[in-house]
Amino acid sequence: MQKPDFHFLVCNSFRGGEATQGVCSRKGALDLIQYLQNEIIDRGLNAMVSSTGCLQWCEKGPVMVLYPQNLWFAGIDEARLGAILDTLEAGGIPKDDVGG
Ligand code: FES
Repeated sequence: MQKPDFHFLVCNSFRGGEATQGVCSRKGALDLIQYLQNEIIDRGLNAMVSSTGCLQWCEKGPVMVLYPQNLWFAGIDEARLGAILDTLEAGGIPKDDVGG
């Protein structure tokens, strides 16, 4: 297995053994995951996408974390994901919503 350069962890509101029911799922996280996967393929990035359980930032959903850069993004949508991918493709580090 080749380690990815970028691992996108997108909250899809999974909670132990139950169907998705949190904010991120209700705000379309599943569609965003699909969009992200398609963009990664189209752009030829060495990246992977995983959907996660609640990332404990529900009021700002949909929420995504990017590793190994440890960047946290809130209120993501397709436009924001596109801008993040543009920055990564150009070799830059996108500005996240936590800082520090
Ligand atoms: S449901 Fe996504 S951060 Fe809680």
